[in-house]
Formats: sequence, C-alpha cells, structure tokens
Amino acid sequence: MHTRIDRRTFLRTGSALATAMAMPTILPRNVFGANEKLNIATIGALGKGQSDTHNVADLHNIVALVDADMNRAEAAAKGLAKFYESRKSDTKVEAKLYTDFRKMFDAQHAGIDAVIVSTPDHTHFPAAMWAVRHKKHVTVQKPMCNYIGEVRALHKAAKAAGLVTQMGNQGRTMDGQRAVKEWIEQGAIGTLKEIRLWTNRPIWPQGPLHKHTAETPAGLDWDSWLGQEVEEPYFTFDDGKHDAPKADEPKKKGRRGNAVAPFNWRGWWAYGSGALGDMGCHIMDATFNVLGRRIPVKIEAKSSEVTDLTAPVWSELVYHFAASDTLPALKVTWHDGSKDGKPNKPERDPLVPEEAFAKASSGMIFIGTEGTIFEPEAYCSDPKIYSEERRKDVEAMIKSGKIKQTEARSKYPGNPQKEWAQGIVEGFTPSSNFDYSAPLTEFVMLGNLAIRSGQAVSWDTTTGKVTNLESANRFVNRPAYRKGWE
Ligand SMILES: NC(=O)c1ccc[n+]([C@@H]2O[C@H](COP(=O)([O-])OP(=O)(O)OC[C@H]3O[C@@H](n4cnc5c(N)ncnc54)[C@H](O)[C@@H]3O)[C@@H](O)[C@H]2O)c1
Repeated sequence: MHTRIDRRTFLRTGSALATAMAMPTILPRNVFGANEKLNIATIGALGKGQSDTHNVADLHNIVALVDADMNRAEAAAKGLAKFYESRKSDTKVEAKLYTDFRKMFDAQHAGIDAVIVSTPDHTHFPAAMWAVRHKKHVTVQKPMCNYIGEVRALHKAAKAAGLVTQMGNQGRTMDGQRAVKEWIEQGAIGTLKEIRLWTNRPIWPQGPLHKHTAETPAGLDWDSWLGQEVEEPYFTFDDGKHDAPKADEPKKKGRRGNAVAPFNWRGWWAYGSGALGDMGCHIMDATFNVLGRRIPVKIEAKSSEVTDLTAPVWSELVYHFAASDTLPALKVTWHDGSKDGKPNKPERDPLVPEEAFAKASSGMIFIGTEGTIFEPEAYCSDPKIYSEERRKDVEAMIKSGKIKQTEARSKYPGNPQKEWAQGIVEGFTPSSNFDYSAPLTEFVMLGNLAIRSGQAVSWDTTTGKVTNLESANRFVNRPAYRKGWE
C-alpha cells in the first residue's frame, strides 16, 4: 500500500536532503588518475540511455544497467556487447542488470563512481537524488527535472555533496553557441533586439487524451517506472480521433502506438514536460548563454487546449528579460507544434533566406540592429550571420582579431556524457554542470508554468515563486510523492 506525502513535507525533506538524508560516512571519490577507468551505472538503459552509455563505454567500465523493463535491460546489455565487439575492446567487466535503481544502489553502490540517468523526465529526480545520496557523480538527461522545485532541490543537494554534474544537452558542448555569444557580445549584429525560437514538436500525442487501463507489458516493472509518481495502472490512450491500439495489435511501421511507455509519456505532465520541456533545453540553451544565464521576469502564454493531465498541441510564449549592464530589456519568443495543419513558426526575419527558414523544423533567430543570426537546428551547431554582406564583414573582423574567441571550447564537442566522465578523472568542470543547467531548466520550465496557469506569470527567481498569481505556484512542485520514492 502506497501513501502520499504532502508537498510541504517533501520540500522540508528535499531542502534538507544535502544534510539529513546524505550518508555522512560516504565521501565522493574525487581523486582519480587522468587515465583511470570509472565504474559507471546507467539508469534508463535503452532509448537515449543506450547512446549515453556508449558515449563513455570506450573509456570507462559500465558495471550496471538499470531499466524498468527487463527485456530492455537485456537488449541494452546486448547492444553494449556489440559496441565492445565493434571497438575490439578488451573490456571484461559485465554489467549487472536491474529493473529498480534502488536495488542496484543497495547491491552495488560501493563499487560505483558515477551514474548516468536517462529515464523519462519524471524519474530524473529520484534516480539522480539516489545517486547524490550515495555520493556518486551524476549526469542526467534534459530537462534536468520536470518540476522547478525538483530542479532546485537536486542542484542544491549535488552541490552540497561536491559532485561533478552534467545535463545531457549536447548543444552546450558544441562550438556554435559559444560563437553566437562572442559575435553578439562583440557587436557582430549591432545591439540585440529580439530572439525567436521554435520547434515542430510535439511529434507524439498531446492535447486532451483519454486513458485506457491496459495490461502491463511482460518484463516491465511498472512500479519502478512510476517511481515517485502517484500509483495508477499501465495505460494506453486515444485522442478522440484515433482509437487506442489493442494489446495484440502489431505496431504500424513508423508509428509508436499510443501506450504511455516507452516514449509517449512526453505529453503527460506527470511524466514528461511537453514539447517545450523536450526541446527547450536544446533550443533555449544558446539564448540562455547569450543573455548572461539570467532568468526571465515575466512569461506570457497562449496555447491550444491544455488539461490538468496533458500538454497542448501547440503553444506560443513570450519570455520577458529585464535590462542588464550590457543588454536592453528584450523579448524571447517560443513557438511549438502545428496550428491549422501548418507548422507553428514565428515570423521570419526579412534577412533570413526564405527557403532555409521553410526547411527548419526547429531553429533560432537572433535579431540585432545591424544583422541577424539564423540557426536551422536545435543545437546551434552551425549558426550563420545574415545579410551575407554582413557575414563577410564579420568573417574579416574575426580574421583580423577584431572579434575574438573569448569562450573556452569543449574538448568533447557533441558528447556531454564523455565531457562529464573526463571532467571527473581529469579534474575540470563540465560545461552543462548543474550550476549552468539548473537555471537553464528553470528558464525553460517557466514556460510550462505559464501554459498550465493559462495566463501571464511574473517570476521571482530569488524566492522561486510566482508573484502575481498565487494559484500558479501549485505548478512549481510535484503535488505528491509515493512512499519509498521520496
Ligand atoms: N539529449 C537528447 O538529444 C535526447 C534525445 C532523446 C531523449 N532524451 C531524453 O532522454 C530521456 C529518455 O528518453 P527516451 O526517449 O529514451 O525515453 P524512452 O521511454 O524511449 O526510454 C527510456 C528508458 O528508460 C527506462 N525506464 C523508465 N523508467 C525507468 C526507471 N524508473 N528506472 C530505470 N529505467 C527506466 C525505459 O524502460 C526505457 O528503456 C528523456 O529525459 C528525454 O528527454 C534526450
């Protein structure tokens, strides 16, 4: 029988995590040789977790693979064996398999140095917290957590424990977003006036959805999958237009079906964070860095129907940033999904070529008084300055040293997991460590707070509270935690 604890009790516990719940006898292992192999456990072993694991497996030992679905844990183990084979690796360590990360920590924590968390968004928090309590260095996929209160509690606990941390937003390790910051700071597009961001997500079901209780697939430890969330049976769902798939119905090619797991949890507030939470930590990353890693003061939202359970099929947001020492007050807009059968995109800036803009399913536009930067992808890997004339001028300024490289480049571009693992053994701070990625995630998730509130919200980042609408504060923290997963 599971019981729920209220939010206040949780927050008291959460804020005291770094002290009361930490295990004072365990210290993080912080001293490693630069060539030392870490013992790493992955939680959420298939899906994105598989590539995250392979990203470090050429240099480090994978000693445990945890997946709520044992069939998927076994598939991940086979995938890892193939990876070793393809690399002609001499790795002899065999990963032990689990469906419940708590049992993995009970059995193996003494032999583990670091933990990768690539589960659905909602279980980033408990899985990473378990790692922090056991003083294990930790990397989590994006978004860091799907509630701002959890982002803050995890950041605080990991910092107090002195751990090396990282979020899996790969764009942060690439050169592109660093170049954009350098160009803007050194006047390449004049004074920055506005930023427009968009994505074609969701490419999974969102909007009002109807649940249908279904048999839990063989091999899936549903209790473990649910983690801290309120107990409910495994389910499929329909959107009122398409029926939920029958249990024995073969999956149509190219369709993932309408079962909540794997993958389709993204549109459910309890488990995912909608299109914004899925792509925001990528697409807003360069913006966050360019604007001086600040948090917006007010967020306006418009969207299609949003329910207590699910995210909308499209949304439009305006994030307002106060003026800083170097930048005027400005707006960052976000568009997602499709509207009236068409991709829901912002207005094209006249300097951005029409064809390139039409092709960009996700992207970003930085508009300045003397030019525009356009990036047609989510990670800001290849940003370009427009007009072409202006670009040539800027290229000449870079060549002559008038515009300089001021941002340190990552040694592991495109591979945040390796950057993190090597940060642990080589002794440097990974670029999306929680001091960076916690406020980035807060910035992103404030959009969901406005979407769920159905109106503009003003935010005080010092107190972590909405100041103009008390009822919106109920979306800051997860409403309840199941016993055994707090
Ligand atoms: N950085 C990127 O480019 C990128 C790309 C895709 C996904 N992601 C992120 O990776 C995470 C996983 O996404 P996905 O698409 O792989 O999801 P998924 O549902 O396809 O796979 C998640 C895996 O974790 C397992 N799992 C679920 N709950 C678990 C638990 N409590 N303990 C252990 N294992 C559990 C599932 O069985 C499944 O194998 C998400 O947070 C997502 O946002 C990041």
